[in-house]
Amino acid sequence: MTIQLRIRRQGPDKNAYWQTFELEIDPSLTILDALIQIKESQDGSLSCRKNCRNTICGSCAMTINGRSALACQQSILAELANSPVPNQIAIAPLGNLPVLKDLVVDMSDFWQKLSAVNPYVSTAARQVPEREFLQSPSDRAKLNASGNCILCGACYGACNAVEVNPAFVGPHALAKAARLVADTRDSDTDQRLDQYNTATSGVWGCTRCFNCNTVCPVGVQPLDRISEIKQAILARSGEATHNQDRPLRHRQVLLELVKEGGWVDERQFGLRVVGNGFRDVGGVMSLVPLGWRLLRRGKFPLRFEKSAGQAQIKAVVTALQQKQPYSKIEAKKKGMKC
Ligand code: SF4
Ligand code: SF4
Ligand code: FES
Repeated sequence: MTIQLRIRRQGPDKNAYWQTFELEIDPSLTILDALIQIKESQDGSLSCRKNCRNTICGSCAMTINGRSALACQQSILAELANSPVPNQIAIAPLGNLPVLKDLVVDMSDFWQKLSAVNPYVSTAARQVPEREFLQSPSDRAKLNASGNCILCGACYGACNAVEVNPAFVGPHALAKAARLVADTRDSDTDQRLDQYNTATSGVWGCTRCFNCNTVCPVGVQPLDRISEIKQAILARSGEATHNQDRPLRHRQVLLELVKEGGWVDERQFGLRVVGNGFRDVGGVMSLVPLGWRLLRRGKFPLRFEKSAGQAQIKAVVTALQQKQPYSKIEAKKKGMKC
């Protein structure tokens, strides 16, 4: 079959341009096979990373038909079916990372951000005098999803939060962070949760766009891992919402109000989140103009009606809260040794 590969090319310090290659190839082969064929038979200067050719090493992540993917995992046939241009597949380097040459990007930021979450089981836990640190099969199973990560960078290249906020550590780093929070051998859970509990660089910097879950080639589902860290932060915080920063209080109060009334009582929401339950006088005062405008237009209800089925909603929320995946944190609260 004759196909076209439209490839984004760029040399160091040179402007990027698109180059179209035509090649005769078996469409059941992969995009990486097509790139190798071009390199071997048409243009040896075309640069891309590869190693295992089998979805293991994570080297060959790039942008294929507009989304991050592994070139050795995507078949030509499937990509032709996805392509908006008949018989043509568009290939570009990963997003959010500077291009070194053609499809090869500089991964320095990616690795530095991974280092920033302290991605190793704490050394204190490693000082086990007599034998290895055993885990139960169920504790080990909690690490499976994040443990699958092959550090390919597909999620990072597709992350909307990284694109607008370079301080955000990224889905790959937070997936690794979730693994360590859930790891019963790690003894630094509190410090980790403090570190990841930041508005711009940590878990609250994620915009929940879902891209990372969509593109991850091995099912890590980084957004789900980020949600697990958030749950752990909220579980640890308990009722002490007044000590939390605003993003965290926002989520905690939202949940409390839904439990109490079935839906959100916006009058209390503002006072408890922005005003921190009258502890933040400046916050309360900042609400006065809005409250006054709402009152004048008759949009400030003096009574709050609970929603129908509030008892069932409360039961559902309570049941979900009791399904916290972080038995380590719960056990710690109860004074048990993990
Ligand atoms: S869900 Fe969050 S971490 Fe994942 S790609 Fe979107 S912004 Fe990035
Ligand atoms: S989480 Fe998935 S997409 Fe992101 S680096 Fe790991 S394997 Fe790649
Ligand atoms: S070459 Fe190893 S994952 Fe594609």
